[in-house]
Amino acid sequence: MSEPQFSPGLAGVVAGKSGVGLVNGTDGILLYRGYRVEDLAEHCTFEEVAHLLLKGKLPNREELSAFDAELKARRALPAGILALLRTLPTKTHPMAALQSAVAALSGFYPAPDAADRAASWEGILRLTASMPTIVAAFHRIRQGKDVVDPDLTQGMAGDFLTMLNGEKPTDKAARLFDVCLVLHAEHGFNASTFTGRVVGSSLADIYASMSAAVGSLSGPLHGGANEEVLVQLKEIPNAEAAPAWFDHMIETKQKVMGLGHRVYKVKDPRAGILQRMASDLFSTEGSTPLYDIAHAIEQRAAVKVGPKGVWPNVDFYSGLVYQKLGLTVDLFTPIFAIARIAGWSAHWMEQMEDNRIYRPDCIYTGPNDLTVPAIDAR
Ligand code: ACO
Repeated sequence: MSEPQFSPGLAGVVAGKSGVGLVNGTDGILLYRGYRVEDLAEHCTFEEVAHLLLKGKLPNREELSAFDAELKARRALPAGILALLRTLPTKTHPMAALQSAVAALSGFYPAPDAADRAASWEGILRLTASMPTIVAAFHRIRQGKDVVDPDLTQGMAGDFLTMLNGEKPTDKAARLFDVCLVLHAEHGFNASTFTGRVVGSSLADIYASMSAAVGSLSGPLHGGANEEVLVQLKEIPNAEAAPAWFDHMIETKQKVMGLGHRVYKVKDPRAGILQRMASDLFSTEGSTPLYDIAHAIEQRAAVKVGPKGVWPNVDFYSGLVYQKLGLTVDLFTPIFAIARIAGWSAHWMEQMEDNRIYRPDCIYTGPNDLTVPAIDAR
């Protein structure tokens, strides 16, 4: 028998078919159901993009208003979820709080069944609508502040910022945040999406599948990188010191967070949009040393690691934009999750359409044919 092929990280392994999103890493193109992410970011709200991903088409006015109403009806949390969030230690990472609440939501509604499309759709609407409320509520609870109820006069982006900060954002801030949600809504067969599909393939329900996806996203090599970017940038005293810092990282084989991508070997198109947004924000509202440092790192990286296909990814500039919007660093990954729920759920439904439980092989590297010695002889 020939030795099975092993591809670390499943790189290059085709593990499914999908019509949800295309990531073309050679040319730096990202499509959501055929539309370029740049086009969607310029012309659509997160709700329109969620409709596109979940229902397969951009909504007309009527469809959008019906979808919006369905989401609004599900923004508020059951009292039991708020009680659960109040029991968590205040030092709990918001991703852990989110993962717990997403799993727990299943107990508050009629038993979800992965094979029942209507029940799963109900869960998808509920998660898309209420994950922002969970993140905002936990943030206020851990600060000892009152939870702010959803404001149904606002879109999801503006309402999230209101529930978080207790005051309505400016239209510009709300739209900026809306674009960030659009940019993070979908990205092909990445680790967290694949996790959601793998868990769903066992016919685990939508809440169990999506809570697993949240856990996958929390890692520093995936969604958690956007937190690490700011931590690293803060280590650098100023923009002049950035090239030497960067060279030292590369010489000592350390990873610079926010650079590199499994698929993109050119600049991530989302990073380009976020960079323009950051540059606009910083030029109208005043630059910060961190933005200047980030810019200096990008320039150095282009020379030192660009030739081997390592360029800024979506996380490189997102943290700077979020920080300017007044968001704390440990909220960056939960924000990623409240956008990505749309892509995760679209993939999960696709998995259910043509499901076979995932069960890859591995190459056994352990010993063979051992016999159990008596306990005193071990
Ligand atoms: N800093 C320094 N060197 C890097 C970086 C980096 N961020 N990324 C890749 N490299 C180096 C690798 O060490 C490798 O070097 P070598 O040829 O000397 O061995 C070379 O560039 C090629 O690496 P890839 O094969 O392209 O990277 P891989 O696919 O294994 O990893 C990953 C991709 C995990 C994203 C990696 O680039 C990384 O750790 N980046 C930092 C974390 C990060 O920003 N993650 C967010 C990804 S986007 C997202 O999840 C939303």
